[in-house]
Amino acid sequence: MKVLGIETSCDETGVAVYADGAGLLAHKLYSQVRLHREFGGVVPELASRDHIRKLTPLVRACLQEAGIRLDDLDGIAYTRGPGLVGALLVGAATAAGLAFARGLPLIGVHHMEGHLLAPLLEEPAPEFPFVALLVSGGHSQLVAVEELGRYQLLGDTLDDAAGEAFDKTAKLLGLPYPGGPALARLADAGQPGHYDLPRPMTRKPGLDFSFSGLKTAVLTAVNQEEAGHGALDESRRANIARDFQDAVVETLVIKCRRALEQTGITRLVVAGGVSANRRLREALAEMTAAQGAEVYYPRPEFCTDNGAMIAFAGYLRLAAGERETRMRRPRPRWPLEELRPPVDSATLV
Ligand code: KG4
Ligand code: ZN
Repeated sequence: MKVLGIETSCDETGVAVYADGAGLLAHKLYSQVRLHREFGGVVPELASRDHIRKLTPLVRACLQEAGIRLDDLDGIAYTRGPGLVGALLVGAATAAGLAFARGLPLIGVHHMEGHLLAPLLEEPAPEFPFVALLVSGGHSQLVAVEELGRYQLLGDTLDDAAGEAFDKTAKLLGLPYPGGPALARLADAGQPGHYDLPRPMTRKPGLDFSFSGLKTAVLTAVNQEEAGHGALDESRRANIARDFQDAVVETLVIKCRRALEQTGITRLVVAGGVSANRRLREALAEMTAAQGAEVYYPRPEFCTDNGAMIAFAGYLRLAAGERETRMRRPRPRWPLEELRPPVDSATLV
């Protein structure tokens, strides 16, 4: 079975072909980062228009790289949500058009299910059950994954997501969009321990996150520095970045340890854009080793948004017999816990 996956939930156009037995045949990504940079963040209308321009040529290039034609496909998967509604519509309409034209089964995939299954594309793949830490620009969640489609939300963010906190703090430090990777690079040049930043919600029990207070604490530190010494020089900015990153990483590690202890599960999967963070990976490796647990990641290019994770999650559901019988409306907001294990559509009346 060969499945084409289409991802257009935000500012990356991603396309891939997954085949059972062979794995990924090809994947292509077009990032709109340069388009949005001058605005300091994603402009939804520009994102939709750019997906329209780039998606069809990218599908063509991806099929060519995979060495197949549209008629060789057995199904089409697209990101149904969550995400920007206009951007989602482009992927959904393109996928539905191709599926209708070729009489192929269609499946709408939950973007975060794509992220949390992405580590299964790697060797060795984690077995179920596992705890997933999903840390992206829009999400900071801990999820107990019992099997495909059976997800129990253990903790969620009460305000900013981890990636959002990275992006907003980066902006505060004058770094270009997207801030996460730039802040991580600056942090590498900094010395720790200069600023006393909070580890939000780690003293109380529970697995929820809150990152907006941390961002405010950074703002206060920046204001105090500027009042005392004038504009921030490079080394002070690097020190702030370092202490901020350490605070986020330590907070995430504490919650992951708690989630493993609470569930008794010994496998941790980390996915979403922030899982590309090197310092987070080092700290989670230490923690899981001390707990006798294992940690799994997607390869770096599949940590951030991509078509491969959508092709793969769609393949798993299509292979189990699930398919859409009509085009469904996109779900800009779509709680992960609403998902269910795949249902064989042939058994439905
Ligand atoms: O999963 P993703 O590509 O898109 C969403 O679904 O949101 O995640 C993007 C987020 C952005 O907030 C970005 O700043 C952050 O992931 N990010 C990082 C790193 N690379 C990407 N944050 C910290 N360190 C990184 N190395
Ligand atoms: Zn994402």
